[in-house]
Amino acid sequence: MSRTPELDVPVQIVLNRDAGAPTLADQIAAQLRASICGGALRTGDRLPAIRLLAARLAVARATVDAAYGQLIAEGYLDAKPGAGTRVAGRLPEDALLLRSRGEGSQRPPEPRAARGLTERAQQVAAVASVLLPQQPVPLAVVCPSDELAPGKAWTRIAARLARTPWRHGGYAPPHGFMPLREAVADYARRFRGVVCEPEQVVITAGTQQGIALCAQLLFERGDPVWIEDPCYSLLAASVAFNGVRAIPVPVDGEGLDVAAGVAIAPDARGAFVSPSHQYPLGMAMPMARRLALLDWAREADRWIIEDDYDSELRYEGRPFPSLQGLDAGGEAVIYLGTFSKMLFPGLRLGYAIVPRALVEAFAGARLLADRHSSESQQAVLAEYMREGHYETHIRRIRTVFQKRREVLLEECEAQLSAFGAVIPGDQGMHLVFRFAADLPDVEITRRVRSAGVEVRPLSPFYRQAAPLKGFMLGFGGFAPESIRAAVGAIRRELDAAVKPSAKSRSG
Ligand SMILES: Cc1ncc(COP(=O)(O)O)c(C=O)c1O
Repeated sequence: MSRTPELDVPVQIVLNRDAGAPTLADQIAAQLRASICGGALRTGDRLPAIRLLAARLAVARATVDAAYGQLIAEGYLDAKPGAGTRVAGRLPEDALLLRSRGEGSQRPPEPRAARGLTERAQQVAAVASVLLPQQPVPLAVVCPSDELAPGKAWTRIAARLARTPWRHGGYAPPHGFMPLREAVADYARRFRGVVCEPEQVVITAGTQQGIALCAQLLFERGDPVWIEDPCYSLLAASVAFNGVRAIPVPVDGEGLDVAAGVAIAPDARGAFVSPSHQYPLGMAMPMARRLALLDWAREADRWIIEDDYDSELRYEGRPFPSLQGLDAGGEAVIYLGTFSKMLFPGLRLGYAIVPRALVEAFAGARLLADRHSSESQQAVLAEYMREGHYETHIRRIRTVFQKRREVLLEECEAQLSAFGAVIPGDQGMHLVFRFAADLPDVEITRRVRSAGVEVRPLSPFYRQAAPLKGFMLGFGGFAPESIRAAVGAIRRELDAAVKPSAKSRSG
């Protein structure tokens, strides 16, 4: 059904009927003129029919007729038989002048930026350009593709549930869809050694949201909290944005250096760590260091937030069990998991596994942030996990990734060994190639990207002066030939980067 065009016109007319006020026709004309000058009414917009506007304003038709007549005479309106009354195609010069100056009663508001952004807004605006998504070209870390997709089982379940979308279309519990919480608890217990019940699982919109909720809920504003240096850039930004004082603690060959943390910030109230696969460097935290970290947390009721983003992918031996599982009911650890890496990041589903006493706080904060994740997507995932496809999918991609990782390792060795070496590790979806010399990794990344290859420079992940320069190289999404060609392109850019300095040394 077509809408009545007259009612589409955004005219707000307020009449002053006091004795001594201008005539009603003059008031109507003045307000329509201002709407035209202010841009609320535009060329070609159709005005309400006289009879309708008169009824709406409770005035005589002759009053509206007089107002329209005045504006037609001034050149603001055109009236054609059969086409009604419309804003004129060519406005009088003074209307255009007023519009360009933003004058008129409906002038557009002054841009916010001109009034000054708050410090928080400026801080977070700067984050919008941090860690932009990578292009889906080699060697992006995450690159969803048909080949690595969750498969026919996913599409079958999604298609079945899509037939009755309203069944999952109401407001849903902020804790998450119970069958998904059950599936996650079961998976995390069996695969990651997490000690939990389904009631402790809070479904999130990915680890990023889990990090924000932890920063908001576990600490007082300004509390010092350790973060790894280097670490995931959006973790550092989120923690700071959510009011926590992030204290960078160096990472050594065993992950976060607990003794260094104690020396730097003994009063810290907690720590954000990636113990199973340090991000971005890639090492796993050995048992002694894990126990030291847990002791530190327990001795003063501190929190550990464990970011376990891709440790399903361990290629030599079984994955390290989670730190949460080592805590043996101590309830010092919040475990954050994500489906971004094993499935695809656009799903925006992850989970926080939290001590019972925190469940309602997490759910409440989630409710206030965005209510809940899409229940339809949660239902698809719950069914996919319940039928066992998630585990099959992980096994499948692990086999594919393992071969590709070997290719990347061989190519780095064959083509890049003059420039540095891969940091040892046996997990995940990326390798870190560290430069032997102090080369400008950000600058070289720019050139590598213009050659059609995605890498991430290492130095921006450091909070303090970067002791290492290099690249993160993803391998999961690409066939061996593409990996080979991409490493070749990187070699050419590294060659070009070192040549001028070689020349200047010899000259
Ligand atoms: C170490 C680390 N933590 C957290 C995240 C955020 O993941 P999500 O997509 O679940 O928000 C990522 C994503 O790349 C990551 O690499």
